[in-house]
Amino acid sequence: MLDGNYNGMTEYLLQKEPQRGAIYHYPPGIWFSDELKRWMVTCPQLIRQAMSDRAFDVPAFDFSPVMRKMGVDLHHVEEIRKWFPMAEEGERHAILREKFARHITQQTACVLKSLEDELDARKLALLKIDREEEFCFYSYFMRPVMLKVIGSLANTRLPEEFAVEMIPQFLDDAISPMRRKTIIELLNNIVSAFPNKWTQEQKYFSCAVIALSANTLPSSISLTIVETLHLQPGRLLSEMDWSADLLRTGLPLIEKIVARDTVLGPFELKKGDRVRLFIEADGLFPDQHPRYSDLFFAVGSHKCVGMNLSRQIWAKFTEFLSAIPRRMVVLDVSERTGDYVFNYPQSIKVRFDV
Ligand code: HEM
Repeated sequence: MLDGNYNGMTEYLLQKEPQRGAIYHYPPGIWFSDELKRWMVTCPQLIRQAMSDRAFDVPAFDFSPVMRKMGVDLHHVEEIRKWFPMAEEGERHAILREKFARHITQQTACVLKSLEDELDARKLALLKIDREEEFCFYSYFMRPVMLKVIGSLANTRLPEEFAVEMIPQFLDDAISPMRRKTIIELLNNIVSAFPNKWTQEQKYFSCAVIALSANTLPSSISLTIVETLHLQPGRLLSEMDWSADLLRTGLPLIEKIVARDTVLGPFELKKGDRVRLFIEADGLFPDQHPRYSDLFFAVGSHKCVGMNLSRQIWAKFTEFLSAIPRRMVVLDVSERTGDYVFNYPQSIKVRFDV
């Protein structure tokens, strides 16, 4: 039933389908997509199995051949890619994980302090917005706050004019060559803007930190806020029952490559097959409220290193929102187009009616 297109939608965009909860939980939760030429796995048990089994390897995230043909300067991008733990296995993977873990621990206090300061600075402005005035919660509030947070995590200052939220799309193998070219040029500009005294390693690692956080964090937090408002209509932000955990993730899927012939559910998978794991499936059910799932942060050896920090950041947001005695009505949410990996709400039109 899930082969090819359904509801007129391409399987590339299954993660954007409003009714996908039912599709995710339709047995056996694994099928081969002729359109994507890869296995689609939506059954949470099979996803867990694939994440913990050494028969599944990481993809290389190497898009250089196409770009080279377009004459794009790939020097910086290839150096940045070397710092992605989710593109490595074995000893190099262990070294990169350790480096990220140490970096995140070192930056945590400073990230949380910059978040608190930024939220404090924006509270009055939020309280002063006229009743019934429409504004974009993402561009007016979420984006500037997140630029501070991600900048502080990457040990740099991210000016508003740098579209850093485009950078993680670099990891998407389906984006258009033009968008990839724009992202590479943006990365080249960011690398050039770092202080001269920084080592090459500091510059490239900092870009890798941005790539891993600049979509996952703002999108998961924004989607969770929107979902909470949807589930508890009519309440003031200060009276909402804010979930301790994120209810939605902005990274609905990840991919693996089959390293040796293996079996997943009822199917035999061959070495070299590509596998798409819909990690949001366990948090989305048909006709049920969304709920937190540990799969949002992956399980196994590539489990997210930024999970604890992300949860602490979400806790600061809930603390902040719990002190805003206003009722926010969501008018429209539009997600980024031309995006085949993230669910990224780049416009959230709202108004306060109290
Ligand atoms: C709500 C926010 C976040 C979500 C939902 C999230 C989710 C994930 C997921 C699903 C993976 C596995 C990727 C894969 O195997 O292909 C991952 C890996 C990773 N994440 Fe996060 N992440 C978040 C925030 C962050 C932040 C803030 C950082 C900090 C830089 C971070 C750093 C990492 C790193 C280093 C890995 C690679 C781990 C490895 O391969 O061993 N994440 N994340």
